[in-house]
Amino acid sequence: MDIDTKKVQQQTDKYICNTYGRYPVVMVEGSGCRLKDARGREYLDFLSGIAVTSLGHANPLIADAICRQAATLVHVSNLFYTAPSAELAETLVKNSFAKKVFFANSGAEANEAAIKLARKHGNPERNEIITLTGSFHGRTLATVAATGQERFRAGFDPVPTGFRHAPFGDLETITKMIDERTCAIMCEPLQGEGGVRPLATEYLRGIRELCDREGLLLILDEVQVGLGRTGRLFGYEHFDIVPDIITLAKALGNGMPIGAMLAGEKVADTFVPGDHASTFGANPVVTAAANQVMATLLEDGFLARVEGLGHYLAKGLSAIAQRFPEIVSTVRGLGLIQGMVLSPVMIPQGGEMVRKLLENGLIANFAGNTALRFLPPLTVSRSEIDQACEIIEKTLAGFQP
Ligand SMILES: Cc1ncc(COP(=O)(O)O)c(C=O)c1O
Repeated sequence: MDIDTKKVQQQTDKYICNTYGRYPVVMVEGSGCRLKDARGREYLDFLSGIAVTSLGHANPLIADAICRQAATLVHVSNLFYTAPSAELAETLVKNSFAKKVFFANSGAEANEAAIKLARKHGNPERNEIITLTGSFHGRTLATVAATGQERFRAGFDPVPTGFRHAPFGDLETITKMIDERTCAIMCEPLQGEGGVRPLATEYLRGIRELCDREGLLLILDEVQVGLGRTGRLFGYEHFDIVPDIITLAKALGNGMPIGAMLAGEKVADTFVPGDHASTFGANPVVTAAANQVMATLLEDGFLARVEGLGHYLAKGLSAIAQRFPEIVSTVRGLGLIQGMVLSPVMIPQGGEMVRKLLENGLIANFAGNTALRFLPPLTVSRSEIDQACEIIEKTLAGFQP
């Protein structure tokens, strides 16, 4: 493959809006857990396109599903029935708490659907949603308003009203914040962008009980942690609770753009024709890919293997953390979303550590200005985890507090 790194960088910088800080490499191909750049360098991909390519790059079954569907029918709009979307909705419903699904194209759009559904449900005066500080729900105006981090809203006022942010981990304050306008509480079971921060079991159960007591909906944003990432099909399964709505995206299409909002019994029939729509939503090609993703995730033993690999990765990272107590304060996560939380003095060097990891052949990122985040594909092998740990160890050894 003949791709000129400099030329691609110049074209990108000249013609694409300057919204991303990019690393100075042009990725040209991938296979499983590995990526190759235009200069022929190989990387172990422990980021998976930020929790997207969960079944690896160039997964042959998914490539085949996409190609077959693309050669048959790509798009007709939701004015017609199509088989791949119907099959995907049935699979999602039959393997979750949900009764119905709305399909969109991204995580933010799945959350927009959840927000609209929660506002439409019940009394129209009750239209406020409480979310948590440190949360991340997307970049559309409503989802930046929902996001509990001021920096994502800065410069974009006015954002939609109707969101309040409760301090993370504090059940007492959230209880006091509920009033006659509140319709829902929305949170991630584990905050990914917020620094790989899982909610304590008792805290999320407490939020569920609170919602039941106050007649509120519980919306779980599983855009990052859903679909096997934590070792269970859905993150909520770790907490022994049933949400009213969950949102999915990222891994559902293994890189094809798709989002989904799953609605439980209470709200499944709230939307009626005309309430919400998406031209591309549930397009046959993306849903054909997603059907193959779901078939793989639901194979016997697949999720148990992910759980085992999650423990293996956590153990490897914890061993490194013990050797660098001045650099790493703790390792936390669930399954194959793991974060190495840097000690406070090391936070300013987090970005540089990620650059050095990349130079040493490992792709990861720095989440929430807090933790080195590792999101390998769910198909990663133990030996690839060992290789990643060796690179992390070697890289951390080059840093001083
Ligand atoms: C928890 C969560 N919700 C929503 C989003 C937004 O998803 P998208 O970028 O597909 O709109 C993200 C993206 O990182 C996320 O992690």
